[in-house]
Amino acid sequence: MEEEEDIEENGLKKKLVKEGGGLDETGTKKGGGLGKNTMDRYPFLHLTFFFFFIVSSMVAAPVHCQKQTQALTHLYRNKMKANSGIDKSRFKPIHHIKKTSVHPQHEMMEKDRIRMLPGQPRVSFEQYGGYMTVDKSAGRALYYYFVEAQHYSKESLPLLLWLNGGPGCSSLAYGAMEELGPFRVHSNGKTLYRNRYSWNYAANVLFVESPAGVGFSYSNTTSDYDKSGDSKTAVDNYVFLLNWLERFPEYKNREFYIAGESYEGHYVPQLAHTILQHNIKAKQTLINLKGILIGNAVINDETDNKGMYDYMESHALISDETAHGINKYCSFSSEESLEIGTKCQSAMDEISRDTYYLDIYNIYAPLCHNSSLTVIPKKPSVVSFDPCSDDYVHAYLNSVDVQEAMHANVTKLDHDWEPCSDIISRWGDSPSTIIPLLQELMANGIRVWVFSGDTDGRVPVTSTKYTIKKMNLPVKTKWHPWYLDGEVGGFTEVYDGDLTFATVRGAGHQVPSFQPKRALSLIWHFLAGKPLPETSRYE
Ligand SMILES: *[C@@H]1O[C@H](CO)[C@@H](O)[C@H](O)[C@H]1NC(C)=O
Ligand SMILES: *[C@@H]1O[C@H](CO)[C@@H](O)[C@H](O)[C@H]1NC(C)=O
Ligand SMILES: *[C@@H]1O[C@H](CO)[C@@H](O)[C@H](O)[C@H]1NC(C)=O
Repeated sequence: MEEEEDIEENGLKKKLVKEGGGLDETGTKKGGGLGKNTMDRYPFLHLTFFFFFIVSSMVAAPVHCQKQTQALTHLYRNKMKANSGIDKSRFKPIHHIKKTSVHPQHEMMEKDRIRMLPGQPRVSFEQYGGYMTVDKSAGRALYYYFVEAQHYSKESLPLLLWLNGGPGCSSLAYGAMEELGPFRVHSNGKTLYRNRYSWNYAANVLFVESPAGVGFSYSNTTSDYDKSGDSKTAVDNYVFLLNWLERFPEYKNREFYIAGESYEGHYVPQLAHTILQHNIKAKQTLINLKGILIGNAVINDETDNKGMYDYMESHALISDETAHGINKYCSFSSEESLEIGTKCQSAMDEISRDTYYLDIYNIYAPLCHNSSLTVIPKKPSVVSFDPCSDDYVHAYLNSVDVQEAMHANVTKLDHDWEPCSDIISRWGDSPSTIIPLLQELMANGIRVWVFSGDTDGRVPVTSTKYTIKKMNLPVKTKWHPWYLDGEVGGFTEVYDGDLTFATVRGAGHQVPSFQPKRALSLIWHFLAGKPLPETSRYE
């Protein structure tokens, strides 16, 4: 084992020297396969691409992740170019939605009922999975997985949509199977165990693989994959929801919330905006949106970037000199064009070398040193996250009997299921800031909670703090620890206009993976509209 690790280290070190460092090295290790040549040609990318390796904590990335990373690299390379053709201006919602986008869904719900997932322990709640057509003429459909609330309380609890980021990563892979869903996959890749901190103790939870090209979601018009972007994602998600509520009519007037992490800092407010605008236009509550919750969220390019480097410095990952070099010689604004000086570059290279052996998404976490599945499952633990989980989930969701049970891949797609898409090839719009959307939601009485796992180094707590500071909101409840089980669960501050900021202590980028109990407490308080507990005497 030790020997293997040494060989691995040497291999990586050799590579590091050969390719001359650079943040791409971290990308290669974590998300897999960010091409050397790409980074050489577009060094400015270093500034922002950090955000977009949303998940994964593998030392040696399996081949299946590589193409995806290149696709994302392509996207952010473009985003940073002066004449990229990527629209970075304000979000432009598509207001016109064809009436024919909403189809009758009679008896479809019953067809989508999942009897039992392979290897699943017995449970007392219902699960559903299936496709929803969002564009009939293109043949575009999104896959969803829905778990009703536990303890027979589905009638009284709200409906919660969870979306993962990327762009291009799957809510089924991360949200459902590694974070807040009712099950986790054993290390044999075949059987499941219970997550006793599943969010379906607090809500009926809906996971959607979005946009088309992610996971099981697809389009029969494959050119759709070249036309992806924030606006199209929002409108497809919206059409999805309208149809889904036809299929599951009992949820039509239910209180509805949207939550997500990472690039969801874009998707969630954009979808919320779309819902709000259509409710206003229709002069009726088509979707009963009450609030949004976004975690370690990409919100504002400039503060996100600055906060990332400041986090690395303040957490003793990089030297003061390097941090100084970054601050002095690099630009944090995505508005500025692709020019990077040698001094900025050398500070970047320094950072790459310093963080190479870290999971930057959770700086104190162990890495996955052996991604092989085991015949006999390792003893599972919901509270101690297994860094090789991506591999277990990949095996599970690619198995034919699992896909059949979940009503997934019914059209026999020509590519494997991947946690992050390797077929979405272009991203057309990605605003440099989402702050105006948050302000609009707050002005319309939508509850906005922004949370942050405080050991994430990618979209860290400093970034979120800078972003909120930029919003210049009066403080309603001043900064204080919040408690769970007599421990500090994190810290919180509440602002006028109903914006709550909350940290989750000891959690990385995927908060419910690393601090499942604190995450469940957070979502419970958010949904109940209750402030996080200010004393250690819980409730
Ligand atoms: C995509 O094409 C397949 C094969 O023709 C068809 O069965 C399926 O219904 C189509 N999907 C959509 C969303 O129209
Ligand atoms: C990785 O795990 C597999 C399955 O448990 C085992 O057969 C293999 O020897 C391990 N490899 C290393 C390098 O530890
Ligand atoms: C869909 O099924 C086909 C045929 O079994 C398989 O080759 C492909 O990998 C699957 N794709 C996905 C996305 O599950």
